[in-house]
Amino acid sequence: MTNATQSASSNEAWFNSDSVATEVLAGLRERPKRIAPKYFYDETGSALFDTITELDEYYLPRVERQIFQDHAAAICAAAGTEATVIEPGAGSCEKIAWLLPELAPDLYVPMDISAEHLVRSAAALSERFPQLPVAPQVCDHTVGLTLDIDIPDGKRVFFYPGSSVGNFEPAAAVEFMRRMRALMNGDGGLLIGVDTKKDTDVLHAAYNDAEGVTAAFNLNVLDHLNAQLDGNFSTANFEHHALYNESAGRVEMHLRCKRDHTVTLASDSVDFAAGELIHTESSYKYHPDEFAALGRQAGLQQRECWQDNRGWFSVQYLTPV
Ligand code: AVJ
Repeated sequence: MTNATQSASSNEAWFNSDSVATEVLAGLRERPKRIAPKYFYDETGSALFDTITELDEYYLPRVERQIFQDHAAAICAAAGTEATVIEPGAGSCEKIAWLLPELAPDLYVPMDISAEHLVRSAAALSERFPQLPVAPQVCDHTVGLTLDIDIPDGKRVFFYPGSSVGNFEPAAAVEFMRRMRALMNGDGGLLIGVDTKKDTDVLHAAYNDAEGVTAAFNLNVLDHLNAQLDGNFSTANFEHHALYNESAGRVEMHLRCKRDHTVTLASDSVDFAAGELIHTESSYKYHPDEFAALGRQAGLQQRECWQDNRGWFSVQYLTPV
């Protein structure tokens, strides 16, 4: 393994447009209709998400970064050095840099569904940390988690920051953590960022920003599907709808249809009624104890939990029971 990042190995043909068409149409035939949140992230969507992370209302990245900075030494001590660090959904590979060089992994394996973005990000990281071996892998971790056979067998630490785990239904989050645990070889762990339950107004504002960036991000999923599946969604026919569902402990994002109409997509058609909702994302919020219970269901024990002084976010380290 070298730190050359010219190519990313691929084990998921997620970009295969037939399988995307099948998956998206199946979601749009469910009641209520749904579109998986991974479809937010085309080039425009990724740029909009970057803008979201800079919004005053969207506290998550700032609070998480503060926790990582304040507790870097303890976090690196818990996770230990010389591991293979695997980051599903690594995107721009920026967060791992918060823990370098102290974490001193033997190998860093960023995974993402977007090969192009992944290879570019990995190359940028290699430039900043030339000593760090990087082996990018194209993988849709929401579907499966498979490691290349040449990934070393030793200690593996999974890194899953950003409260991305909140996008899974709790049962699916357990399943995902089980899959990571199965690849840990007993010795590794999971370093994960988890957003916490908090005041409804704070959560509502975080997903209904004044500038409408989150609304644009939500609506952009339709333009992405138009481009990928030769569709004719009009974003003017839908509006952003986000709320904190307190009893379920999750923020929900939907697109609300404004008028009765029919959309063509992947040579198929789907009817929409005025007022109808398409569910586009759930973002579950967990008290640290709740998340510990979820981890236990996956055979992982919460060893450490670091928080900011308001308790708005948590970074946790879990290891196999
Ligand atoms: C990247 C999944 C953590 O759920 O807060 C931001 C995505 N959605 N604004 C989240 C998102 C709306 C974000 N995650």
